[in-house]
Amino acid sequence: MSHFINNKSEQVDKSDTDDTYTLGPLQSGPPCCIPEPLIRVENLSLYYAAKPALESVSLDIYKGCITALIGPSGCGKTSFLSVLNRLTDMIPGCRVSGKVHFNSTNLLSPSLDVQGLRRDIGMIFQKPVPFPLSIRRNIELPLREYGMNKQADLNEVMQQVLRDVGLWHEVKNRLESPAQALSGGQQQRLCIARALALRPQVLLMDEPCSALDPISSGIVEDLIQRLRDKYTVVIVTHNLAQARRIANFAGFFWIREQRAGCLIEFGQCKQIFEAPAHELTAAYVNGSRG
Ligand SMILES: Nc1ncnc2c1ncn2[C@@H]1O[C@H](COP(=O)(O)OP(=O)(O)OP(=O)(O)O)[C@@H](O)[C@H]1O
Ligand SMILES: [Mg+2]
Repeated sequence: MSHFINNKSEQVDKSDTDDTYTLGPLQSGPPCCIPEPLIRVENLSLYYAAKPALESVSLDIYKGCITALIGPSGCGKTSFLSVLNRLTDMIPGCRVSGKVHFNSTNLLSPSLDVQGLRRDIGMIFQKPVPFPLSIRRNIELPLREYGMNKQADLNEVMQQVLRDVGLWHEVKNRLESPAQALSGGQQQRLCIARALALRPQVLLMDEPCSALDPISSGIVEDLIQRLRDKYTVVIVTHNLAQARRIANFAGFFWIREQRAGCLIEFGQCKQIFEAPAHELTAAYVNGSRG
């Protein structure tokens, strides 16, 4: 069955007793071997009606890498992610200008297939948002929406993605139970599994651990690291230690003169944290500003 996400992986785990992640071993922040831009953002500006929220942001998102976006509250990190899967279309009065290329597609084109884009670029929110349905239906619903109807195929993908997020053994005997009865950390992993079921190229994660207890946060953080290579991840986090642990690249956003958010500095995560080029970055990562 061609839909299977683990067609991408040599390490398919079919056993029913082994809870090993099929996404591969945990990798702790190595640089990407060959950074290849997957998303290119040029001079991106965003307004909410008359209010500027982002001004002239340019950066590349590299394939198979984890990119962390950091910066103080209100500097436009969520707005930036919202552009990348066109959630901004749903905000009345929101205007976006500049260029964003995903592969060779103009992501801002009015004629873009936005539903197709959201399949390729999935979004995970701060607060897990499972559908008010069973665990099974949470995974099946988007798959059916995108045309998968054979129950055997649906079961196969569901089991695989639940294994991928380390949830299978926790839920396999309660698949018909409401997803909202899961713990917060389990709900967040279910939301990640739901996104993975559609085989996205990119996962956008907006503070995915900040509503979780430290143990659940650690589990989700490990999972994000396992996504590296097979997926391109852009994560917003206020947890600088987390960004430093998991990211290959980091972008530091700031609010210019109390107005629009802007990108102060972008680079390899190690450089941003250990040898920032800009004094504002240095002050922020050292904790003296922000
Ligand atoms: N839908 C909206 N309508 C109007 N203004 C908005 C909207 N969403 C965000 N803003 C404003 O845009 C600016 C950037 O907001 P955004 O949520 O992108 O910041 P952020 O960096 O994600 O902040 P935080 O770290 O607190 O999540 C803020 O001033 C915010 O009030
Ligand atoms: Mg935000």
